[in-house]
Amino acid sequence: MFRINDNYTKLPGSYLFSTIGKKVAAYKQAHPDKRVISLGIGDVTQPIAPAILAAMHKAVDEMGDAATFHGYAPDLGYGFLRETIAREDYRARGCDIDADEIFISDGAKCDCGNFQEIFSDDCKIAVCDPVYPVYVDSNAMAGRTGSYDAGLGMWTDVIYMPCTAENGFVPELPKTAPDLIYLCNPNNPTGTTLTKAQLQEWVGSAKSVGAVILYDAAYESYISEADVPHTIYEVPGAVDCAVEFRSFSKNAGFTGVRLGFVVVPKGIKDGNGVALHGLWARRHGTKYNGAPYIIQRAGEAVYTPEARTQLGAQVAYYMANAAAIRDGLTEAGYKVYGGVNAPYIWLKTPDGMSSWEFFDWLLEGASVVGTPGSGFGPSGEGYFRLTAFGSKENVAEALGRIKGMA
Ligand code: MLT
Repeated sequence: MFRINDNYTKLPGSYLFSTIGKKVAAYKQAHPDKRVISLGIGDVTQPIAPAILAAMHKAVDEMGDAATFHGYAPDLGYGFLRETIAREDYRARGCDIDADEIFISDGAKCDCGNFQEIFSDDCKIAVCDPVYPVYVDSNAMAGRTGSYDAGLGMWTDVIYMPCTAENGFVPELPKTAPDLIYLCNPNNPTGTTLTKAQLQEWVGSAKSVGAVILYDAAYESYISEADVPHTIYEVPGAVDCAVEFRSFSKNAGFTGVRLGFVVVPKGIKDGNGVALHGLWARRHGTKYNGAPYIIQRAGEAVYTPEARTQLGAQVAYYMANAAAIRDGLTEAGYKVYGGVNAPYIWLKTPDGMSSWEFFDWLLEGASVVGTPGSGFGPSGEGYFRLTAFGSKENVAEALGRIKGMA
């Protein structure tokens, strides 16, 4: 009789956003008269920018003509996009990254989840707590996290680095040396950031213990403060120890279009001198047939001057929402964090409510959906996340309802 991968049975419940989706669906069924406003999952609401849409239309037409038709894409990405990314995202910032160190994919979620496959089963992972659930869950599926303690909401073999109001949401370097360190900057879910000086410490520490930093920079385009780096390669030495994940979802509204990339510098090697670059190329080429031509042309268009202007306006729109949420909640007596360099606002739940109690209270009383902090890790308990990705009108309406309940 066949056997399944037992690691899957150790996973608690369902993926966070599936659980929330089910709860909201049940609420809507029970209250068909209520208009639910979602400030929960970080999904964009602004349409694809005109300059990008034009590039997509052109690529669609090319696909209809035998002379310009494209079949399978190169598995690691088209040269035109890899070159553009290397030039615009890295060399323009003084970072020495080559086009062939960039691997195009259909998004950062898959890359963040898949990258762990090329590491040994006994690698020890360190994560910020709270954290984007994909890092931990994907390592749990691979059997790298021990067993799950439902009481504590923790895995026995994961190094958790608490990020709370008490430490300014800055993780402490772990006492036990990790092999893989996941960092998300600007951070999902707290919306807070690490400065270049703070990242420098992480790079130094990773190099001293022979660890790799798996750096998720999906929210890079929301950075407004000068001391927060746009890529980890702005930090000297990072090219020797850090892999960077990037997404077109949040900067260009591609959550439904799907495009992302991983940067794997050629110099990062394991204890036996094996380079990650070659292994990831092998893995990617074996399991992935390349992001579609039309979508990669859309990605290339993201870097045109017209698109940059249009996307800058979208980011400004979302960040105006973030400011409105921060100000509105502060006025209503909430303690809020984040929302300055990221489209997430992280609030302390009032009156000692647990994160899920607050979720239910907000849904029942205001028909507003957010994300319980405890869903991101045990140190997220007593916190709650709202996204700034809604429409301005919905944000105003949601704030009015929340204030009405305070
Ligand atoms: C979130 O809400 O945390 C994000 O939308 C998740 C994601 O980007 O996959």
